[in-house]
Amino acid sequence: MKYDIKDLKLAPQGKLKIEWAGSQMKVLRLIRDRFAKEKPLSGIKIAACLHISSETANLMLTLKAGGADVTLCACNPLSTKDDIAASLVKDFGIPTFAISGEDKKTYYKHLTAALDTHPQITMDDGADLVTLLHTERKSQLKEVIGSSEETTTGMIRLKAMLKEGALKIPVMAVNNSLTKHLFDNRYGTGQSTVDGILRATNILLAGKKALVCGYGWCGKGVAMRLRGMAANVAVAEVDPVKALEALMDGFVVRTIKDAIKDNDLVITATGNKSVITVSDLKKAKDGIIVANTGHFNVEFDYEGIVKAAKSRRTLRENLEEITFEGDKKIFVLAEGRLVNLVTAEGHPPDVMDMSFANQALAAEYLVQNKSKLKVGIHTIPAQLDQMIAQLKLESLGISIDKLTEEQKKYLSSWQEGT
Ligand code: ADE
Repeated sequence: MKYDIKDLKLAPQGKLKIEWAGSQMKVLRLIRDRFAKEKPLSGIKIAACLHISSETANLMLTLKAGGADVTLCACNPLSTKDDIAASLVKDFGIPTFAISGEDKKTYYKHLTAALDTHPQITMDDGADLVTLLHTERKSQLKEVIGSSEETTTGMIRLKAMLKEGALKIPVMAVNNSLTKHLFDNRYGTGQSTVDGILRATNILLAGKKALVCGYGWCGKGVAMRLRGMAANVAVAEVDPVKALEALMDGFVVRTIKDAIKDNDLVITATGNKSVITVSDLKKAKDGIIVANTGHFNVEFDYEGIVKAAKSRRTLRENLEEITFEGDKKIFVLAEGRLVNLVTAEGHPPDVMDMSFANQALAAEYLVQNKSKLKVGIHTIPAQLDQMIAQLKLESLGISIDKLTEEQKKYLSSWQEGT
């Protein structure tokens, strides 16, 4: 078996973490048990480019239980948990190509290794594998049934590909499922971002002035959880509707250029690039902490910051002090890479349970509909989305009410009024 990981000796620790995460992923467990019996992915080669976490490991085990032949590579050079990668290889025989801290060349070498397996299904978190498939591996496109995409940033890229006529395969937009973005993006990113900031800095959030850039589902979660820790939260947005939503959710809405001058902490969650420039940071409050929780490390200009720095020191793991001319200091977390996955462990297993239930069902759906699905972006059927929510509730021991026949009839009729 081919693989490229940091150290196989880390496997025992990784195995225990995979087991613990699995115990919190009850919906995925049900799918895994069914997959083990029905083998819906029998003989299907899957290449997955995801964050290498204990939660992802449980998804890989589910796909494998379904009969798939899976290969895994990292979707981010810094988010890999090396002990998980080791256990995937040693304990579960899953070819894994991922080393935490790998350089860009190694990162792409690992993606290439995943595509070398000639997958029929690809899975992405950020659309890097699908992009490589459509650029350097075009000849393999005809072998591919379809792909699935986990994240908002990946969806932005896929929509651009579709618009340009560049997309050549069907893609399941896992991020579109309600049981994905309403929970993973909001509560997952919210909690894990705060977790990442705290692990990197150990600061007290109560009373701090924090600016959240972007009020999509991720930004909403981050702002909500920072407020929960008694930070004084402002939101910056470019979309007037979202800005209004932030305002009426009780946040102060400000422009970045204005808020950066007096905030203690700024977090980007936009999915866009150049949100905070070096020139903004030179005017920022002295000692401001700067972090990104968006998928790519382009939301603020880390390389520009490094170039403009008079001096740099690493004070704690993933906490870098940057001093500009005039002795203004800023503190940058995780080199601008997504803070929740680099300095913490990403979203907790209980929420990845639903995201990865969607991924597993998306793979099954691709196989079941392989000759029918058109090139383009597809959403997982609403019944499956509802089923995941229902199973999650059941796993939490929660029952909900059901519509009576009279109510169903009323909701599908129009004659009854005042
Ligand atoms: N994305 C965010 N959190 C994650 C996690 N724990 N595992 C995999 N992908 C993630």
